[in-house]
Amino acid sequence: MIIPLTRDRLEDILSSVKNLTIGVVGDFTLDGYWYADMEQSQLSRETATYPRPIIRETYSLGGAANAAWNLSALGVGAVWGFSVIGDDWRGNILRSLLDGANIQTGGLLNQADRQTPFYGKVMLTAVGRRTQEDARLDFINTQPLSPESEDALLNSLESFLAKIDGLVIADYQPRGVITARVTQGLLKLASDNSEKPFVVDSRERAGEFRQLILKPNDTEAARIFFPERDIATVKLPELRQAAIMHNQQTGQPIIITRGEQGCLVVADGECVTLPGVPVPPPVDVVGAGDAFLASFTAAVTCGVNPVEAACLANLSAAVTVAKIGVTGTAAPAEILSLYDMWASNFI
Ligand SMILES: Nc1ncnc2c1ncn2[C@@H]1O[C@H](COP(=O)(O)OP(=O)(O)OP(=O)(O)O)[C@@H](O)[C@H]1O
Ligand SMILES: [Mg+2]
Repeated sequence: MIIPLTRDRLEDILSSVKNLTIGVVGDFTLDGYWYADMEQSQLSRETATYPRPIIRETYSLGGAANAAWNLSALGVGAVWGFSVIGDDWRGNILRSLLDGANIQTGGLLNQADRQTPFYGKVMLTAVGRRTQEDARLDFINTQPLSPESEDALLNSLESFLAKIDGLVIADYQPRGVITARVTQGLLKLASDNSEKPFVVDSRERAGEFRQLILKPNDTEAARIFFPERDIATVKLPELRQAAIMHNQQTGQPIIITRGEQGCLVVADGECVTLPGVPVPPPVDVVGAGDAFLASFTAAVTCGVNPVEAACLANLSAAVTVAKIGVTGTAAPAEILSLYDMWASNFI
Protein backbone atom coordinates (compact mmCIF):
# COMPACT_ATOMS: atom_id res chain seq x y z
CA MET A 1 0.00 0.00 0.00
CA ILE A 2 1.11 3.58 -0.65
CA ILE A 3 0.45 5.96 2.26
CA PRO A 4 -2.05 8.50 0.87
CA LEU A 5 -0.42 11.33 2.82
CA THR A 6 3.16 12.61 2.52
CA ARG A 7 5.00 13.90 5.58
CA ASP A 8 5.04 17.43 4.15
CA ARG A 9 1.32 17.30 3.60
CA LEU A 10 0.77 16.00 7.14
CA GLU A 11 2.85 18.87 8.54
CA ASP A 12 0.85 21.35 6.42
CA ILE A 13 -2.46 20.03 7.75
CA LEU A 14 -1.24 20.06 11.37
CA SER A 15 -0.18 23.64 10.92
CA SER A 16 -3.43 24.74 9.18
CA VAL A 17 -5.65 23.47 12.01
CA LYS A 18 -4.18 26.19 14.23
CA ASN A 19 -6.31 28.73 12.35
CA LEU A 20 -9.60 26.94 12.93
CA THR A 21 -12.46 27.39 15.36
CA ILE A 22 -14.41 24.17 15.81
CA GLY A 23 -17.54 23.56 17.87
CA VAL A 24 -18.57 20.31 19.55
CA VAL A 25 -22.23 19.78 20.42
CA GLY A 26 -23.39 16.70 22.23
CA ASP A 27 -23.07 14.62 25.35
CA PHE A 28 -20.27 16.04 27.46
CA THR A 29 -19.48 13.46 30.11
CA LEU A 30 -17.03 12.97 32.96
CA ASP A 31 -15.03 9.81 33.55
CA GLY A 32 -13.87 9.06 37.08
CA TYR A 33 -11.43 6.48 38.39
CA TRP A 34 -11.70 5.55 42.06
CA TYR A 35 -8.89 3.33 43.32
CA ALA A 36 -9.91 1.04 46.19
CA ASP A 37 -7.17 -0.53 48.31
CA MET A 38 -8.78 -3.86 49.19
CA GLU A 39 -5.97 -4.57 51.69
CA GLN A 40 -7.66 -1.97 53.88
CA SER A 41 -11.17 -3.32 53.46
CA GLN A 42 -12.78 -4.78 56.58
CA LEU A 43 -15.93 -6.83 56.50
CA SER A 44 -19.03 -4.76 57.20
CA ARG A 45 -21.03 -6.90 59.61
CA GLU A 46 -24.28 -5.00 58.87
CA THR A 47 -24.22 -5.74 55.15
CA ALA A 48 -21.94 -8.81 55.02
CA THR A 49 -19.95 -7.10 52.26
CA TYR A 50 -16.44 -5.74 51.91
CA PRO A 51 -16.34 -1.93 51.44
CA ARG A 52 -14.20 -0.36 48.72
CA PRO A 53 -11.81 1.97 50.59
CA ILE A 54 -10.97 4.64 48.02
CA ILE A 55 -7.42 5.93 48.38
CA ARG A 56 -7.12 7.92 45.14
CA GLU A 57 -9.44 9.52 42.60
CA THR A 58 -8.78 10.92 39.14
CA TYR A 59 -11.12 12.44 36.57
CA SER A 60 -10.99 12.96 32.83
CA LEU A 61 -13.08 14.21 29.94
CA GLY A 62 -15.36 11.68 28.26
CA GLY A 63 -17.81 11.42 25.35
CA ALA A 64 -18.24 14.72 23.48
CA ALA A 65 -15.86 16.34 25.98
CA ASN A 66 -13.19 13.85 24.91
CA ALA A 67 -13.76 14.76 21.26
CA ALA A 68 -13.35 18.44 22.21
CA TRP A 69 -10.20 17.63 24.20
CA ASN A 70 -8.76 15.81 21.19
CA LEU A 71 -9.40 18.85 18.97
CA SER A 72 -7.64 21.07 21.45
CA ALA A 73 -4.66 18.68 21.83
CA LEU A 74 -4.37 18.51 18.04
CA GLY A 75 -3.72 22.25 18.08
CA VAL A 76 -7.06 23.52 16.74
CA GLY A 77 -7.00 27.30 17.40
CA ALA A 78 -10.26 27.50 19.34
CA VAL A 79 -12.64 24.77 20.50
CA TRP A 80 -16.16 25.59 21.70
CA GLY A 81 -18.32 23.18 23.69
CA PHE A 82 -22.14 23.13 23.48
CA SER A 83 -24.16 20.98 25.83
CA VAL A 84 -26.50 20.93 28.81
CA ILE A 85 -25.20 19.54 32.09
CA GLY A 86 -26.38 19.45 35.70
CA ASP A 87 -25.73 21.77 38.59
CA ASP A 88 -23.71 19.21 40.54
CA TRP A 89 -20.18 18.26 41.65
CA ARG A 90 -19.56 16.36 38.43
CA GLY A 91 -20.49 19.43 36.39
CA ASN A 92 -18.00 21.51 38.40
CA ILE A 93 -15.18 19.02 37.78
CA LEU A 94 -16.14 18.79 34.09
CA ARG A 95 -16.00 22.58 33.72
CA SER A 96 -12.63 22.88 35.40
CA LEU A 97 -11.15 20.09 33.23
CA LEU A 98 -12.52 21.79 30.11
CA ASP A 99 -10.95 25.10 31.21
CA GLY A 100 -7.65 23.28 31.77
CA ALA A 101 -7.87 21.79 28.26
CA ASN A 102 -8.49 25.24 26.76
CA ILE A 103 -12.05 24.47 25.67
CA GLN A 104 -14.49 27.40 25.70
CA THR A 105 -17.52 26.69 27.91
CA GLY A 106 -19.74 29.69 27.03
CA GLY A 107 -22.08 27.24 25.27
CA LEU A 108 -22.20 24.78 28.17
CA LEU A 109 -25.58 25.33 29.84
CA ASN A 110 -26.97 24.10 33.15
CA GLN A 111 -30.37 22.53 33.79
CA ALA A 112 -31.03 22.31 37.53
CA ASP A 113 -32.81 18.94 37.58
CA ARG A 114 -30.39 17.25 35.19
CA GLN A 115 -27.48 14.99 36.08
CA THR A 116 -24.07 15.60 34.55
CA PRO A 117 -23.40 12.20 32.97
CA PHE A 118 -20.62 10.34 34.76
CA TYR A 119 -18.93 6.98 34.35
CA GLY A 120 -17.28 5.99 37.61
CA LYS A 121 -14.80 3.16 37.36
CA VAL A 122 -13.94 1.50 40.65
CA MET A 123 -10.50 -0.06 40.38
CA LEU A 124 -9.78 -2.73 43.01
CA THR A 125 -6.13 -3.06 43.98
CA ALA A 126 -4.30 -5.41 46.34
CA VAL A 127 -0.60 -6.10 46.78
CA GLY A 128 0.64 -8.65 44.28
CA ARG A 129 -2.63 -8.76 42.34
CA ARG A 130 -3.65 -7.25 39.02
CA THR A 131 -5.95 -4.26 39.31
CA GLN A 132 -9.49 -5.43 38.75
CA GLU A 133 -12.39 -3.28 37.62
CA ASP A 134 -15.53 -3.45 39.77
CA ALA A 135 -19.03 -2.80 38.37
CA ARG A 136 -19.08 0.76 37.01
CA LEU A 137 -21.17 3.44 38.72
CA ASP A 138 -22.98 5.52 36.10
CA PHE A 139 -24.89 8.74 36.68
CA ILE A 140 -27.51 8.94 33.95
CA ASN A 141 -30.61 10.93 33.04
CA THR A 142 -34.00 9.27 33.09
CA GLN A 143 -35.92 12.25 31.68
CA PRO A 144 -35.52 13.93 28.30
CA LEU A 145 -33.93 17.36 28.03
CA SER A 146 -36.45 20.12 28.86
CA PRO A 147 -37.88 22.15 25.93
CA GLU A 148 -36.33 25.30 27.51
CA SER A 149 -32.88 23.66 27.45
CA GLU A 150 -33.40 22.48 23.87
CA ASP A 151 -34.17 26.07 22.82
CA ALA A 152 -31.29 27.52 24.84
CA LEU A 153 -28.83 25.02 23.35
CA LEU A 154 -29.94 25.73 19.77
CA ASN A 155 -29.94 29.51 20.36
CA SER A 156 -26.48 29.39 21.79
CA LEU A 157 -25.20 27.35 18.83
CA GLU A 158 -26.88 29.67 16.36
CA SER A 159 -25.34 32.75 17.94
CA PHE A 160 -21.81 31.29 17.80
CA LEU A 161 -22.08 29.61 14.42
CA ALA A 162 -20.81 32.59 12.40
CA LYS A 163 -17.48 32.26 14.29
CA ILE A 164 -17.25 28.48 13.89
CA ASP A 165 -15.61 26.84 10.86
CA GLY A 166 -16.86 23.28 11.47
CA LEU A 167 -19.03 21.37 13.93
CA VAL A 168 -18.81 17.94 15.56
CA ILE A 169 -22.11 16.38 16.64
CA ALA A 170 -21.36 13.74 19.28
CA ASP A 171 -24.57 11.92 20.21
CA TYR A 172 -23.72 9.20 22.69
CA GLN A 173 -26.43 8.98 25.37
CA PRO A 174 -29.93 7.46 25.16
CA ARG A 175 -31.47 10.53 26.89
CA GLY A 176 -28.74 12.93 25.94
CA VAL A 177 -28.86 16.44 24.54
CA ILE A 178 -29.36 15.43 20.88
CA THR A 179 -33.13 15.09 21.13
CA ALA A 180 -35.54 14.98 18.17
CA ARG A 181 -36.04 18.76 18.35
CA VAL A 182 -32.33 19.48 18.70
CA THR A 183 -31.75 17.18 15.71
CA GLN A 184 -34.23 19.17 13.61
CA GLY A 185 -32.56 22.41 14.71
CA LEU A 186 -29.10 21.08 13.83
CA LEU A 187 -30.27 19.93 10.39
CA LYS A 188 -31.69 23.41 9.75
CA LEU A 189 -28.43 25.09 10.89
CA ALA A 190 -26.48 22.71 8.64
CA SER A 191 -28.60 23.51 5.60
CA ASP A 192 -28.33 27.27 6.29
CA ASN A 193 -24.53 26.92 6.60
CA SER A 194 -23.83 24.31 3.95
CA GLU A 195 -20.27 25.59 3.41
CA LYS A 196 -19.32 24.40 6.92
CA PRO A 197 -18.72 20.70 7.56
CA PHE A 198 -20.96 19.13 10.21
CA VAL A 199 -19.55 15.70 11.17
CA VAL A 200 -21.82 13.33 13.07
CA ASP A 201 -20.99 10.46 15.42
CA SER A 202 -24.28 9.05 16.69
CA ARG A 203 -24.58 5.73 18.46
CA GLU A 204 -28.31 5.19 17.85
CA ARG A 205 -29.60 7.87 15.51
CA ALA A 206 -27.05 8.34 12.73
CA GLY A 207 -29.77 7.61 10.16
CA GLU A 208 -31.50 10.88 11.07
CA PHE A 209 -28.38 12.81 10.03
CA ARG A 210 -28.10 11.34 6.52
CA GLN A 211 -27.62 14.75 4.89
CA LEU A 212 -24.45 15.38 6.95
CA ILE A 213 -21.01 13.75 7.05
CA LEU A 214 -21.34 10.52 9.07
CA LYS A 215 -18.65 8.67 11.02
CA PRO A 216 -20.20 5.41 12.19
CA ASN A 217 -18.20 2.35 13.16
CA ASP A 218 -18.97 -0.81 11.18
CA THR A 219 -21.72 -1.99 13.54
CA GLU A 220 -23.45 1.39 13.53
CA ALA A 221 -23.15 1.57 9.72
CA ALA A 222 -24.74 -1.87 9.37
CA ARG A 223 -27.62 -0.65 11.54
CA ILE A 224 -28.09 2.49 9.39
CA PHE A 225 -28.10 0.65 6.06
CA PHE A 226 -29.62 -2.72 7.03
CA PRO A 227 -32.02 -1.97 9.90
CA GLU A 228 -34.00 -5.16 9.27
CA ARG A 229 -31.00 -7.49 9.26
CA ASP A 230 -29.08 -9.23 12.02
CA ILE A 231 -25.96 -7.02 11.86
CA ALA A 232 -23.63 -9.98 12.34
CA THR A 233 -24.67 -11.20 8.89
CA VAL A 234 -23.81 -7.95 7.06
CA LYS A 235 -20.64 -8.51 5.01
CA LEU A 236 -18.01 -5.90 4.19
CA PRO A 237 -18.78 -5.74 0.42
CA GLU A 238 -22.45 -5.05 1.25
CA LEU A 239 -21.42 -2.24 3.59
CA ARG A 240 -19.15 -0.78 0.89
CA GLN A 241 -21.93 -0.89 -1.70
CA ALA A 242 -24.51 0.64 0.65
CA ALA A 243 -22.08 3.42 1.63
CA ILE A 244 -21.37 4.21 -2.03
CA MET A 245 -25.11 4.43 -2.73
CA HIS A 246 -25.53 6.67 0.32
CA ASN A 247 -22.74 8.93 -0.97
CA GLN A 248 -24.30 9.09 -4.43
CA GLN A 249 -27.73 9.93 -3.02
CA THR A 250 -26.64 12.53 -0.47
CA GLY A 251 -23.44 13.89 -2.05
CA GLN A 252 -21.85 13.60 1.41
CA PRO A 253 -18.79 11.56 2.31
CA ILE A 254 -19.18 8.80 4.88
CA ILE A 255 -16.34 7.28 6.90
CA ILE A 256 -16.84 3.86 8.47
CA THR A 257 -14.29 3.02 11.17
CA ARG A 258 -13.26 -0.61 11.65
CA GLY A 259 -11.15 -0.73 14.83
CA GLU A 260 -7.59 -1.94 14.23
CA GLN A 261 -8.48 -2.58 10.59
CA GLY A 262 -8.73 1.16 9.93
CA CYS A 263 -11.62 2.59 7.96
CA LEU A 264 -13.58 2.86 4.73
CA VAL A 265 -13.67 6.31 3.18
CA VAL A 266 -16.51 6.82 0.76
CA ALA A 267 -16.53 10.02 -1.29
CA ASP A 268 -17.11 11.00 -4.94
CA GLY A 269 -18.81 7.68 -5.62
CA GLU A 270 -15.75 5.64 -4.63
CA CYS A 271 -14.80 3.61 -1.59
CA VAL A 272 -11.17 3.67 -0.40
CA THR A 273 -10.10 1.08 2.19
CA LEU A 274 -7.49 2.54 4.54
CA PRO A 275 -5.68 0.14 6.87
CA GLY A 276 -5.25 1.06 10.54
CA VAL A 277 -1.84 2.10 11.83
CA PRO A 278 -0.49 -0.93 13.71
CA VAL A 279 0.12 -0.48 17.43
CA PRO A 280 2.00 -3.17 19.39
CA PRO A 281 0.17 -4.55 22.44
CA PRO A 282 -0.90 -3.60 25.04
CA VAL A 283 -3.61 -1.41 23.55
CA ASP A 284 -6.52 0.48 25.09
CA VAL A 285 -9.14 1.28 22.48
CA VAL A 286 -11.44 3.32 24.74
CA GLY A 287 -11.92 6.75 23.14
CA ALA A 288 -10.32 5.80 19.80
CA GLY A 289 -13.52 6.81 18.01
CA ASP A 290 -13.44 10.30 19.58
CA ALA A 291 -9.81 10.84 18.56
CA PHE A 292 -10.63 9.74 15.02
CA LEU A 293 -13.70 12.00 14.89
CA ALA A 294 -11.77 15.05 16.13
CA SER A 295 -8.84 14.77 13.71
CA PHE A 296 -11.04 13.89 10.76
CA THR A 297 -13.29 16.91 11.40
CA ALA A 298 -10.35 19.29 11.87
CA ALA A 299 -8.80 18.17 8.59
CA VAL A 300 -11.97 18.35 6.45
CA THR A 301 -12.70 21.76 7.99
CA CYS A 302 -9.34 22.91 6.55
CA GLY A 303 -10.55 21.73 3.14
CA VAL A 304 -8.46 18.53 3.14
CA ASN A 305 -9.98 15.69 1.07
CA PRO A 306 -11.69 12.88 3.05
CA VAL A 307 -9.02 10.24 2.26
CA GLU A 308 -6.15 12.38 3.58
CA ALA A 309 -8.30 13.48 6.52
CA ALA A 310 -9.06 9.84 7.40
CA CYS A 311 -5.37 8.95 7.12
CA LEU A 312 -4.55 11.63 9.72
CA ALA A 313 -7.48 10.39 11.83
CA ASN A 314 -6.15 6.79 11.73
CA LEU A 315 -2.79 8.08 12.97
CA SER A 316 -4.32 10.18 15.77
CA ALA A 317 -6.54 7.32 16.93
CA ALA A 318 -3.58 4.93 16.91
CA VAL A 319 -1.58 7.35 19.11
CA THR A 320 -4.39 7.29 21.69
CA VAL A 321 -4.81 3.50 21.48
CA ALA A 322 -1.21 3.14 22.67
CA LYS A 323 -2.07 5.08 25.85
CA ILE A 324 -3.23 2.61 28.48
CA GLY A 325 -5.84 3.35 31.19
CA VAL A 326 -6.89 6.73 29.72
CA THR A 327 -8.97 7.76 26.71
CA GLY A 328 -5.97 9.81 25.57
CA THR A 329 -5.27 12.56 23.09
CA ALA A 330 -2.82 12.87 20.21
CA ALA A 331 -0.52 15.89 19.93
CA PRO A 332 1.06 16.87 16.58
CA ALA A 333 4.55 15.73 17.67
CA GLU A 334 3.19 12.28 18.64
CA ILE A 335 1.32 11.99 15.32
CA LEU A 336 4.45 12.89 13.33
CA SER A 337 6.59 10.46 15.27
CA LEU A 338 4.11 7.59 14.72
CA TYR A 339 3.92 8.57 11.04
CA ASP A 340 7.72 8.25 10.76
CA MET A 341 7.71 4.80 12.37
CA TRP A 342 4.80 3.65 10.21
CA ALA A 343 6.21 5.08 6.96
CA SER A 344 9.62 3.48 7.57
CA ASN A 345 7.94 0.05 7.14
CA PHE A 346 6.86 0.99 3.64
CA ILE A 347 10.29 2.05 2.34
N1 LIG B 1 -6.18 -1.77 17.96
C1 LIG B 1 -6.06 -0.66 17.19
N2 LIG B 1 -4.88 -0.36 16.61
C2 LIG B 1 -4.73 0.74 15.85
N3 LIG B 1 -5.72 1.63 15.61
C3 LIG B 1 -6.92 1.38 16.16
C4 LIG B 1 -7.17 0.24 16.99
N4 LIG B 1 -8.45 0.27 17.39
C5 LIG B 1 -8.99 1.40 16.86
N5 LIG B 1 -8.08 2.07 16.11
C6 LIG B 1 -8.27 3.31 15.38
O1 LIG B 1 -9.39 3.99 15.92
C7 LIG B 1 -10.39 4.21 14.93
C8 LIG B 1 -11.75 4.13 15.54
O2 LIG B 1 -11.93 2.84 16.11
P1 LIG B 1 -13.33 2.10 16.15
O3 LIG B 1 -13.74 1.72 14.79
O4 LIG B 1 -13.23 1.04 17.18
O5 LIG B 1 -14.28 3.31 16.62
P2 LIG B 1 -15.54 3.31 17.58
O6 LIG B 1 -16.19 1.98 17.59
O7 LIG B 1 -16.33 4.49 17.18
O8 LIG B 1 -14.84 3.58 18.96
P3 LIG B 1 -15.50 4.08 20.33
O9 LIG B 1 -15.68 2.84 21.13
O10 LIG B 1 -14.45 5.00 20.87
O11 LIG B 1 -16.79 4.75 19.96
C9 LIG B 1 -10.10 3.15 13.85
O12 LIG B 1 -10.60 3.58 12.61
C10 LIG B 1 -8.58 3.08 13.90
O13 LIG B 1 -8.02 4.18 13.18
MG1 LIG C 1 -17.85 5.36 18.37
